Amino acid sequence: MSARWTIQERTTPNPTKLAEDVRQGLSQSPVSIPPKWFYDEKGSQLFDEITELAEYYPTRTEQAILEQHADELPAVDTLVELGAGYSRKTRLLLESLTRGGRALHFVPLDVSAEPLLDAALRITADFPTVTVTGVVADFDDELAPLPGTPGTRMVAFLGSTIGNLTPAPRRAFLQRLHRATDPGDWFLLGADLVKDPERLVRAYDDARGVTAAFNKNVIEVLARELDANLTADDFDHVARYDTELERIEMRLRARRAMTVNLKGLDLAWHLAEGEEILTETSAKFRVEGLRSELGDAGFEVVTTWTDPAGDFSLTLSKRL
Ligand SMILES: C[S@@+](CC[C@H](N)C(=O)[O-])C[C@H]1O[C@@H](n2cnc3c(N)ncnc32)[C@H](O)[C@@H]1O
Repeated sequence: MSARWTIQERTTPNPTKLAEDVRQGLSQSPVSIPPKWFYDEKGSQLFDEITELAEYYPTRTEQAILEQHADELPAVDTLVELGAGYSRKTRLLLESLTRGGRALHFVPLDVSAEPLLDAALRITADFPTVTVTGVVADFDDELAPLPGTPGTRMVAFLGSTIGNLTPAPRRAFLQRLHRATDPGDWFLLGADLVKDPERLVRAYDDARGVTAAFNKNVIEVLARELDANLTADDFDHVARYDTELERIEMRLRARRAMTVNLKGLDLAWHLAEGEEILTETSAKFRVEGLRSELGDAGFEVVTTWTDPAGDFSLTLSKRL
């Protein structure tokens, strides 16, 4: 039997792209590094660990919403998943979409290749009617062409990864998604909702320090990929909620002053003691706000499901 999975490499994360992002981030205040650089193999594994933490309610809440409503989703020929990671929760969608022996083309897309390969192997082993095309790509780039035509298609974007995009990049992302999809395609979006700031901060600053290790992993990525004299131990993990912007910010605070030589960039970066690097923003949404952002980008909301406590949302919309 031929293998039912393939992996396409569109844009693999590379030191040149990282150097460009760091150069741009150094001109901002605070200095910022896009969160996609967390996710080398170790970072992807650490995020997977985060999803099981008691404090990290988003994964199990989204999972519970999927368990309750997956069977209400429309049948499709292709399921594309953006920022798929290990596609663990997605198995609920696969179960529902393949019920009765229906064939499905599953297209997980992620910057990180290792989880895609892991998912492709497990899913083809467990779902005999699923064919997997993993795509190593950056969703900050143009998304078209997305595999899955002709036929009916759904794009899933789970885990509130959309919250890592600030409003203007989020608008641009939704426009790219609109360009890459066809009228009648479905879009299933998982998004975390505004709630008690203390709970939010705990979710990003767990007692065991797994999120701290995940955050600091970007320092190891910089040191390795840009040949930089940086050590994760020289930074403290910081998680804060900005009540005005309604977003969590993860930062790394320098424990001492340092001059960092970024050989890949041929420049010296002076960091003061206490200076912070912004490594991730995670927007928290309101259901009406999501509806209007989706509507502005040409996606008509059909249903929004939330858990009983209103912690997390899953929105099904149709591409107009
Ligand atoms: C917050 S995790 C969510 C993982 C999984 N979907 C879930 O719901 O648990 C974000 C995922 O998006 C991927 N990712 C982050 N930035 C990306 C980008 N610019 N392009 C493609 N994938 C990206 C990461 O590698 C990671 O797998």
